Amino acid sequence: MKDLGDNKLMYSIREGLTFDDVLLVPQHSDVNSRESDVDISVKIKNVTYLHPIIPANMQSITGENMAKAVIDSGGLAILHRFMPIEDQINIVNNFRIKNQSALVTCDILDHLAVSVGVKEPYKDYIKRFMDLGIRVFCIDIAHGDSSHGVDMTNWLRNYYSDSLIISGNVATGYGAKRLWSAGADIVKVGVGPGSLCTTRIETGCGVPQLTALMDVAKARIEQEDINDFQHPYYIISDGGIKNAGDVVKALCFSDMVMAGNIFAGCDETPGTILSIMSKTYKEYKGSSTHKTSHIEGVAAIVPTKGKFDSVLNKLLEGLRSGCSYQGAHKLLELQDNPEFVKITNAGLIESHPHNIMG
Ligand code: XMP
Repeated sequence: MKDLGDNKLMYSIREGLTFDDVLLVPQHSDVNSRESDVDISVKIKNVTYLHPIIPANMQSITGENMAKAVIDSGGLAILHRFMPIEDQINIVNNFRIKNQSALVTCDILDHLAVSVGVKEPYKDYIKRFMDLGIRVFCIDIAHGDSSHGVDMTNWLRNYYSDSLIISGNVATGYGAKRLWSAGADIVKVGVGPGSLCTTRIETGCGVPQLTALMDVAKARIEQEDINDFQHPYYIISDGGIKNAGDVVKALCFSDMVMAGNIFAGCDETPGTILSIMSKTYKEYKGSSTHKTSHIEGVAAIVPTKGKFDSVLNKLLEGLRSGCSYQGAHKLLELQDNPEFVKITNAGLIESHPHNIMG
């Protein structure tokens, strides 16, 4: 049964926009230094992350080495779930041992999350992760606004009330409200924007990412009104990030950004290096390709990119510059009534380097 909430727009078709369809209009700025006058940290409940970028919890992105690099950068690492539970437990245990070292300045368990699905065995896995001290969980399914997604979110909130719950993925405001109401702290937004996704082509379903984010951000305002601003709800934009400009646009409607492709091929990603005609590559695989007879993703190779840190720092540099063009001293100010302009294909061509050689 459909439940569209208040959004009963039967037989009308809205326009859906994504990152490349728009530009942020520059605003007057009193940001004096992009380095020292822009704070790109993000506070989620009582934990502060030094930056808002989360490498995707995909098999070819976030295993142990990537998780370590992300934690070292002060961010949030989410381990992928496409490995045996014992392997995940071993990884968590390795981090817990490091956590006891006097050198560690943050509590690793606030910076390390595990991913879970919605099938029954995951309830036992959650109990085992809880025994290890894990308190950040990502309930991660393709269609988060489903009975399975809502029920699992509800179960986890009731079973472990102090956990930080990320739940998704959704592409609508009413889907996000359902997950927040079921107990999610953070909803993950993105149905089909990912670089490897074929969901939209194979199922005809999805919402262009910027419109999906705007709808969820609007729903958040309504949700917070209902609850008298008692409970903060958070949003992660997941998929479709091609450059730092997309990160800035996404953060106008979200608190953190998940990205896969941009980090695929980094030294810290799992997988072996392939040499083809004197160039080196690594595999980047859609999560649905781990299932048999699943049609919603593809596998590919991408050029190797070097250290995670250098890719991340380039993104963060662009993010700081974007904040300065918006007059934003901190990330939340990007969400303060951002002014976008819709562009044409000619505008997009003009935005990229053009009429040059080499
Ligand atoms: P980017 O664009 O950063 O997107 O590569 C990463 C996100 O894509 C999602 N993902 C998938 N979506 N089929 C899908 O429809 C898949 O097989 C698949 N694998 C990953 C996921 O949300 C990821 O974070």
